[in-house]
Amino acid sequence: MALLEVKNLMLSFAGLDVIKDLSFSVENGSIASLIGPNGAGKTSVFNCLTGFYKPNDGDIIFDGNRIVRKKPHKITKHGMARTFQNLRLFKSMTVLDNVMSGMHCRTKAGPIAAVLRHGAQQREEAETKKFCQECLEFVGIPEFEDHISSNLSYGNQRRVEWARALATKPKLLLLDEPAAGLNHDEKQQLIALIKRIRDELGITILLIEHDMGLVMKVSEKITVIDYGQKIAQGNAEEVQNNPKVIEAYLGKEEEEIA
Ligand SMILES: Nc1ncnc2c1ncn2[C@@H]1O[C@H](COP(=O)(O)OP(=O)(O)OP(=O)(O)O)[C@@H](O)[C@H]1O
Ligand SMILES: [Mg+2]
Repeated sequence: MALLEVKNLMLSFAGLDVIKDLSFSVENGSIASLIGPNGAGKTSVFNCLTGFYKPNDGDIIFDGNRIVRKKPHKITKHGMARTFQNLRLFKSMTVLDNVMSGMHCRTKAGPIAAVLRHGAQQREEAETKKFCQECLEFVGIPEFEDHISSNLSYGNQRRVEWARALATKPKLLLLDEPAAGLNHDEKQQLIALIKRIRDELGITILLIEHDMGLVMKVSEKITVIDYGQKIAQGNAEEVQNNPKVIEAYLGKEEEEIA
């Protein structure tokens, strides 16, 4: 069963098409990837899915709900979480506070309770904190909870982002180039973590990534786009051998060399 269905998505800026009639789906419980050369429109797809961009046309069905053009916080509540291509942490806040900032969509206490700090609210806060600590443990950095985020290594700051996304208790996790800037060992740990997120937490994953080794190792289904259009879809072997994919990547390399 598809957890996410994107149907005939269209997005343009000032008359320039960024996404053209794009359709693809992500099966519940799978690890899927969206790949394509620089500027293909991958991050724009994530921005449409999460409500940051409003597509001109098309539909997005997530867990049985039409979410197209809904507000980002509503989409988060439906169970979609993301990490960004560039780190977006509150740099002067502690690691734990960063993770807790992801959970506000899930806390129930209203503003008055927040001021009065009723028992119910204190209990909720304690539970939130405990769950966020568990998320930090899951991504492998429980010892850093009280550290200021900007003091962590780049690789560990990435982990804080993953913990923050997990703290929203998502059904679908969107990762935008999670391996960018990581060294070889960190990439191997990322591969293991992606698999654990799916296997142990049952969270479906959609990944954007330029590291083809990583994509081919973890993805069960790969959708390839170029100039906002789907050019191929299949498993690692099918996609790697697809002449359109080879041409799209080689063509871009030649443009860069010229
Ligand atoms: N807000 C925007 N306004 C105008 N153009 C935009 C906007 N967002 C994206 N674009 C354009 O859409 C195209 C696709 O950009 P996008 O960031 O989605 O590509 P990408 O596949 O994620 O690339 P990369 O691999 O380099 O991250 C680019 O030409 C970009 O300039
Ligand atoms: Mg991008």
